[in-house]
Amino acid sequence: MEKLEMLYEGKAKKVFKTDDADRYIVEYKDDATAFNGVKKGTITGKGVINNKMSAVLFDMLEKEGIPTHFEGLLSDREMLVKAVEIVPLEVIMRNIAAGSLAKRLGLEEGTPMKRPVLEFCYKNDELGDPIINEDHILAVELATEDQLKTIRKYAYKINELLMDFFKERKIRLVDFKIELGLYKGDIILADEISPDTCRLWDWETDKKLDKDRFRRDLGDVEDAYEEILSRISK
Ligand code: TMP
Repeated sequence: MEKLEMLYEGKAKKVFKTDDADRYIVEYKDDATAFNGVKKGTITGKGVINNKMSAVLFDMLEKEGIPTHFEGLLSDREMLVKAVEIVPLEVIMRNIAAGSLAKRLGLEEGTPMKRPVLEFCYKNDELGDPIINEDHILAVELATEDQLKTIRKYAYKINELLMDFFKERKIRLVDFKIELGLYKGDIILADEISPDTCRLWDWETDKKLDKDRFRRDLGDVEDAYEEILSRISK
């Protein structure tokens, strides 16, 4: 597989074309941003960890019946993926109140939800990824009704699968964000699943083992990413 020109550079990853029109190469960077790019920094080794962790989780989900873009690891920082067109939605699932949900509803961070909460944000940096509902999605055609139904089904199933997976590794899945893509007309799971895109708390101590350590200047950022990778690699 030949790596050709860069198609897109995001905040944490670069996407390259390949000599196969149906495949891209994703390269994971150590760059970290928060608050829509206002806070910038580096988390040394993050790219390698997020690449490996996403590979493990995509593999697991694929085996459990969720179609993903993941095709295989190419190097420490690179994975081969199906060439999808990203649906411009950030699909967020929450099991415990934290972050913007805790703020919006005036809940103490750590309050368990009586049921999982699915949220959608419009993936648009200029607008700051605003929260939207299903009527907005259909009214401005960010996804079709069928696509939305599939996205909802996958989001709940992925939440169950990830919660079980992390629980076995003594990690609480507080919330996470996924992105879906269109590949040959079908919705499949794309982007990444990593401590950048999940809130992960130690089961016993509630210690934050995710990007909130960077967002909130809590220290031990690199250690937290390494701890997560070592627990999920067992
Ligand atoms: P929030 O509480 O800030 O809305 O974040 C919800 C989840 O989404 C959390 O697991 C972090 C993740 N997330 C991203 O992956 N990218 C983002 O740009 C933001 C704001 C959150």
